[in-house]
Amino acid sequence: MKDSAINKEGLSRIDGRLKVTGAARYSAEYTPAGMVYGVLVGSTITKGSIRSIDTKAAEKAPGVLAVISHFNCPKIPGYQIASTEAGKPEPKGTYKLFYNNKILFNGQPIAVVVADTFERALFAATLVKAQYTSQAYQTSLKNNTASAFAAGENGESKRGTVAAWKTAPVKLEQEYVIPSEVHNPMELHSIIAHWDAEDKLTVWDKTQGVKDTQDGIANIFKIPKENIQVNSKFVGGAFGSALQVWPHEVAAIIAARVVKRPVKLMLGRADMFTSVGYRPHTWQKIGIGATEDGKLVGISHEAIGQTSTYEDFNEEPVSVSRSTYACPNVNTNYKLTALDIGSPTWMRGPGEATGAFALESALDELSYALNIDPIELRLKNYAETDPESGKPFSSKYLNEAYKMGADHIGWTDRSPKPASVTKDGWLIGYGMGGGMFGAYRDQATCRAVMIADGTLLLQTAVSDIGPGTGTAMVSIAAEIMDIPAGKIRFEMGDSSLPYAPSQGGSSITATVGSAVNDACKELKEKFSQLAGNTETPDYTKILKDHNLSKLEVTTASKGGDNMNKYAMYSWSVHFVKVCVHPTTGVVKVDKVVCVADSGHIVSPKTARSQIVGGAIGGIGMALMEEVIIDHRYGKLVNNNFADYHIPVNADIPQIEALFINKPDPYINPMGAKGMGEIALIGMAGAVANAVYNATGKRIRQLPITPDKLIGINQSAMVNGS
Ligand code: MOS
Repeated sequence: MKDSAINKEGLSRIDGRLKVTGAARYSAEYTPAGMVYGVLVGSTITKGSIRSIDTKAAEKAPGVLAVISHFNCPKIPGYQIASTEAGKPEPKGTYKLFYNNKILFNGQPIAVVVADTFERALFAATLVKAQYTSQAYQTSLKNNTASAFAAGENGESKRGTVAAWKTAPVKLEQEYVIPSEVHNPMELHSIIAHWDAEDKLTVWDKTQGVKDTQDGIANIFKIPKENIQVNSKFVGGAFGSALQVWPHEVAAIIAARVVKRPVKLMLGRADMFTSVGYRPHTWQKIGIGATEDGKLVGISHEAIGQTSTYEDFNEEPVSVSRSTYACPNVNTNYKLTALDIGSPTWMRGPGEATGAFALESALDELSYALNIDPIELRLKNYAETDPESGKPFSSKYLNEAYKMGADHIGWTDRSPKPASVTKDGWLIGYGMGGGMFGAYRDQATCRAVMIADGTLLLQTAVSDIGPGTGTAMVSIAAEIMDIPAGKIRFEMGDSSLPYAPSQGGSSITATVGSAVNDACKELKEKFSQLAGNTETPDYTKILKDHNLSKLEVTTASKGGDNMNKYAMYSWSVHFVKVCVHPTTGVVKVDKVVCVADSGHIVSPKTARSQIVGGAIGGIGMALMEEVIIDHRYGKLVNNNFADYHIPVNADIPQIEALFINKPDPYINPMGAKGMGEIALIGMAGAVANAVYNATGKRIRQLPITPDKLIGINQSAMVNGS
């Protein structure tokens, strides 16, 4: 490579300077002429119906342009009558805002107030008073598991003999519970909606996928999707909450139509807890059994997660038990309970993160029951081919990852006896936990344009929610085109660009990277043909010689047969060292090592950052994050950062992110697999396992807050001395 060749550490973020200087503009930071502000009014009851809404005071308040509710909302042509069986939730994402007088959850938007300033809209929203008829409601998963119904098709499965674990010489059965967790990215969800004409709309919207948002809006408002321009140039973090069109987006679009001006609607932090989904509270039970020498005999994995009464959200909490370890007998069952709470949604490692907490905890419990080292136990049951499909893995170096992680955390310092190591008055423990997630490759198209001045322009409609997609794409292009990264401009976050899928499911480097790869190769080939040779072309000279201002290709890319021939997964293993205070029960994470087996690492710096971010999310899940609902009122009570805790710098030690960095030969030309989800999946189990090793106390209900460990003082003395 030439002068500014990308060194081994990889490119720094191409948009890093824009982001840290404030020059990057997020969706709420545009000001189209005449823009006004929308603020939502939420239901103060949990279930029932609206009798009336008094909007008079709000309408008379200074600067107010409109108050819209189901009483005066224009007809929304895309709203369909329920197609689902009576009494069952409808498919995810089909909630109809301002449709009727039904109240389905506390905080449900019942009106939107539009005013000329944000402050005036906010004030007027407080003047809107609704009268309700309340009904009895259910917000507790625990009290309602009896009404659970089957979740989708993938929930129920049988391999070999059902409940075979019960016949094993060493066995255990335990329940594991995670609370609901909220996404809480730094950037709040926001939209600016502007009708350019009767059937033509522009939005600046926080979204993980401009094309999916375009489709979603087109379906609701029944206008041609080509008439909808979606802009999402920068996204300040997202973990799944921006994968669908939510009610606040619909509200802003309706409001803009009514007042005939652009409307900005940004959720407040409290709204983020009730309006854009969450990881659902889930109960799980695992039965697991092994032979005396540690060969798994059977796993039984049940889960019941919560959904709303109006939408059917299901994920894959039990799938990890089918494919993580070689085990002849596995049966799974996954159900949903419909509660009077807003719908959950995908959140980083949706399903797998929940399931892996249970499975990796159970494996750890089994390791103590067998008196076998937890890594040893996993190696004894190492799956060489996918136990579920029988297909060969496209690549799997998880065994190397175990070794690398163990070396770096100092696993030999771990005592197999719980609560047996203390240092400076703290109990010390080590734990590990693994993660897996499907390595997906979707289809995408990239336009690559070489301009006369030697600038390479790459265009595709992906959005970058934080992992550094632009940086990874430029890295791929620089290598193929053999030009400095500084000469490459990557354009995205605009629905008028060539197709790319939503940034989700850890699939974008594999998907859009392939399109960038293929487009660059095709463009280079075109130059070679023009120049009549196949050597590395001098692009600017060739353009000049042929009197061209530019040369471009538009290339579509998708996976071939290999996608079906092989089972494709990314793998991770997390190692954690914790210190637990025996009197207060405070857990300090002292050291973290994460190893990812995610194929070739295209962009080492941003990959490291992605693993670190996921690990922090996993530590939050393990130790802090928990939605608390006061079931007397059906209301979420900790909808703020004072009461809902997430890790801050002081909670996080140095995190070592390591990569196997061996290309997957089958998934795509770069050999790259995803890592967004595996960065988090397995981490909560690793922390819980470390806490057990430190204290002898097994916490099976997240988060592991100090109150759950108080009293270890005594038990530590009994066990450890
Ligand atoms: Mo992720 S849950 O695919 O944003």
